[in-house]
Amino acid sequence: MTGVAFLLNGTPVRLGETSPTRTLLQYLREDRGLTGTKEGCNEGDCGACTVIVTDEHGPRALNACILFLPQLHGKAVRTVEAIAAADGTLHPVQQAMVDHHGSQCGFCTPGFIASMAAAHAQGRKDHDVVLAGNLCRCTGYAPIIRAAEAAEGQPLPAWLEDDRAFILAQISSGVRGQTAPGAFRPVTTDELADWYETHPEATLVAGATDVGLWVTKQLRDLPQVAFLNGIPEMQRIAPQGDAIRIGAGVTLTDLRAAMAGPHPHFAAMLTRYASEQVRNAATIGGNIANGSPIGDGPPALIALGARLHLRKGAARREMALEDFFLDYRKQDRQPSEFVEAITLPATAPGLRCYKLSKRFDQDISAVLGCFNLTVENGTITSARIAFGGMAGIPKRAHAVEAALTGQSWPAARAPARAAFAADFVPLSDMRASADYRLEAARNMLDRYMLDLAGTPVSVLEVRA
Ligand SMILES: Cc1cc2nc3c(=O)[nH]c(=O)nc-3n(C[C@H](O)[C@H](O)[C@H](O)COP(=O)(O)OP(=O)(O)OC[C@H]3O[C@@H](n4cnc5c(N)ncnc54)[C@H](O)[C@@H]3O)c2cc1C
Ligand code: FES
Ligand code: FES
Repeated sequence: MTGVAFLLNGTPVRLGETSPTRTLLQYLREDRGLTGTKEGCNEGDCGACTVIVTDEHGPRALNACILFLPQLHGKAVRTVEAIAAADGTLHPVQQAMVDHHGSQCGFCTPGFIASMAAAHAQGRKDHDVVLAGNLCRCTGYAPIIRAAEAAEGQPLPAWLEDDRAFILAQISSGVRGQTAPGAFRPVTTDELADWYETHPEATLVAGATDVGLWVTKQLRDLPQVAFLNGIPEMQRIAPQGDAIRIGAGVTLTDLRAAMAGPHPHFAAMLTRYASEQVRNAATIGGNIANGSPIGDGPPALIALGARLHLRKGAARREMALEDFFLDYRKQDRQPSEFVEAITLPATAPGLRCYKLSKRFDQDISAVLGCFNLTVENGTITSARIAFGGMAGIPKRAHAVEAALTGQSWPAARAPARAAFAADFVPLSDMRASADYRLEAARNMLDRYMLDLAGTPVSVLEVRA
């Protein structure tokens, strides 16, 4: 099948020749005159461009500014122009925004309405979490949250069923293949592996929450692109003996839900990963493969002892995740090799993650510390500790671990604090100075030991 086909506000759309990196926001505003969806930051931060995208996972809020058209293949898109009923009756969240005075200048309002309508369809009540990716500069958030609460439990719009029915039809028709010149959309990892072997220079696009910015902010051309979001096997989370296997294409939203049972502290930390819209798009494979020293996934996964599964053609290999990160933005990945999955232990009661950033929501970590100790009869018998933001790569704290293992607390405190300087020589940048980072990391160890001793230090707790 050629072209990109999707449902837009209830009407089927088929695009022929289109750039694979044209964004949905450009298409809506420039090609379709659907200017209700706004452009604020054009980099995923403000939520002004939020739309509802329904696929086999259900309706979700996404940022149209960093969503490439081929990512929509086989999905249903709903913009603010078509959230009310066909006869003009407002959606419950729209009516509640009117009733509760949730809009002033109105620039942010279409994005809020899309986020609120997606959350309403999912029956969500965690409105602070849902709306953390939507910024409003005039109304203030209290009336908007009151509106979201007022709409809880109100009837669902009829179009939701139409969008779902379209998706079911797409799944049974099995859309696949070249969606645009230079854009490949495999539906199996075998197809991806074969294609990537003959196109080693191509860019893989998973959620596009990094790659999208290469295009919108760095104005880069990406002549050959493979879109990974049509490969169901890469989106699978499955138990595997004492481990859990997580496909590289699992979104941060689905990962967070899957971790809530086995690793609740990891899941809680992921609540502070970006925003609802970004978590709905971003994948754990992209978070690992981009090799960022400040990615939030890798430190937790390294502390858990995760294994990384790579594939190149028919050949597969695996390694400890920490061995993948060689140097700043340099990973142990061959041309045509891609991340297929990770596996991690199903239990780790000692795991805790602490994210330190300037804002609570929608902010990149200055320091992220993840700790996983086993303490038996007062002796620390094993330790896995990893940090983000402390080096050019997500890095394991081997010297700190050695200073703790076989020791008791607080006897091991002074040597462990000293060992941080052997493990890390952090950078100073706009987020934090090197000294601050080192001290904050040491303090996180104190916080962890208090946490293990029963003092509540939730990562979601904010104190003045
Ligand atoms: C507003 C905003 C806020 C953010 N906040 C955070 C945050 O709080 N914490 C955080 O950690 N990150 C954050 N990010 C960064 C981003 O969300 C993550 O790095 C994300 O996990 C990338 O995943 P993706 O699927 O979107 O990757 P993409 O953008 O699609 O790809 C990223 C890189 O990985 C490669 N890639 C993707 N999948 C694979 C694969 N399976 N195999 C090999 N290579 C692959 C791509 O080629 C590319 O080089 C934020 C981004 C934005 C825009
Ligand atoms: S325009 Fe700001 S998130 Fe898209
Ligand atoms: S109403 Fe003006 S920015 Fe929100």
